[in-house]
Amino acid sequence: MTNTPVLVTGGTGTLGRHVVPLLRAAGRDVRVLSRHGGAAADGASEAADGVTYVRCDLLGDGTGLADALEGVDTVLHLAGGPKGDDAATRTLVAAARRAGVRHLVYISVIGADRIPLGYFRAKHVAEEAVADSGVPYTILRAAQFHDLALTVVEKMAKLPLVPAPGGVRWQPVDAREVAARLVELALNEPAGLVPDLAGPEVYAMGELTRGYLRALGRTRPHLPVRVPGKVGRAYRSGANLTLAGAEQGHRTWEDFLAERLAS
Ligand SMILES: NC(=O)c1ccc[n+]([C@@H]2O[C@H](COP(=O)([O-])OP(=O)(O)OC[C@H]3O[C@@H](n4cnc5c(N)ncnc54)[C@H](OP(=O)(O)O)[C@@H]3O)[C@@H](O)[C@H]2O)c1
Repeated sequence: MTNTPVLVTGGTGTLGRHVVPLLRAAGRDVRVLSRHGGAAADGASEAADGVTYVRCDLLGDGTGLADALEGVDTVLHLAGGPKGDDAATRTLVAAARRAGVRHLVYISVIGADRIPLGYFRAKHVAEEAVADSGVPYTILRAAQFHDLALTVVEKMAKLPLVPAPGGVRWQPVDAREVAARLVELALNEPAGLVPDLAGPEVYAMGELTRGYLRALGRTRPHLPVRVPGKVGRAYRSGANLTLAGAEQGHRTWEDFLAERLAS
C-alpha cells in the first residue's frame, strides 16, 4: 500500500482532530495544514508519531501550500470558518490540480444549495470549485455537528427567555461519525457527491435547548419566535435537513450530552 502522506486541511479543528488519528490507525502518514501549524495556544508544538504540520492560510497569499501538497495523492479538505470557504477552496483546488492530486475529499453541509445564508452559499460555491477542478473528488454533506449545537444552545440557555424559533429543526450528527465516514471515503476511489450524513433524530431547536437544560437539571421558559424572510421559509421547509436517503449516524444528541456534560 502507498504511504504518501494524506494532507488534512483543518486537521486541528473539531472534525479534523477526529480524522487525523483514524488515518494514523489506517496506517497512513498525515500532514496537517492550518493557519497555526501544529502550535497549541501556549506555542508548544503538537508532536505525534506520523503526523507533521504545515502552516498556511488558505485565505492568505498561499505561502506554504505548494510544500503542503508535495508528494500528496489524497487531500481531505476540512479547513473552514464562518466566511471564505469559497475563496479558500478555490485556492486549494488550483494548487491541488497543479500538484497532481488524485483524490480531493471535501466536507460540505446539508442545505448548501438551498439555504440562502452566506455560509451555505460559500459551501456550495466551494463544492462547485471542487467538482469543476479536474481533480477526482468526493464530496460529503453533513448535518450540523453536536459540538456546534452545544455552542448554540449554551448561548441560548443563558438568556432569561430562551428563543425557540418556530419550525426550525436540526438533525445534529456526531463529528466522530462524520470523521469515520470521511476517512472511509478518502481511502476509497473518488465517488463524486455521496449520500448526505445526518444524525439519527430530528429536533426542533426548542427541543435541543430543553434537552440540554434537562441534562443539567434546569428549566427555563422558552419564547416562540419566528425567523423572518426567505431564510425563515427555507428552514421551515426543512431545506437544512435530509429526511430521506441520508446515511444516519447512531449517536443521539442525548448520548452526546450525557458524555460531554459528564466530562
Ligand atoms: N461544525 C459543523 O456543524 C459542520 C457541519 C457540516 C460541515 N462542516 C464543515 O466541516 C469543516 C470543519 O468544521 P469544524 O467544525 O471542525 O471547524 P473548526 O473546529 O472551526 O476548525 C476549522 C479548522 O480549519 C482551520 N482553518 C480555518 N481557517 C483557515 C484558513 N484560512 N487557512 C487554513 N486553515 C484554516 C483551523 O485551524 P487554524 O485556526 O489553525 O487555521 C481549524 O483546523 C468546515 O469546512 C465546516 O464548514 C461543519
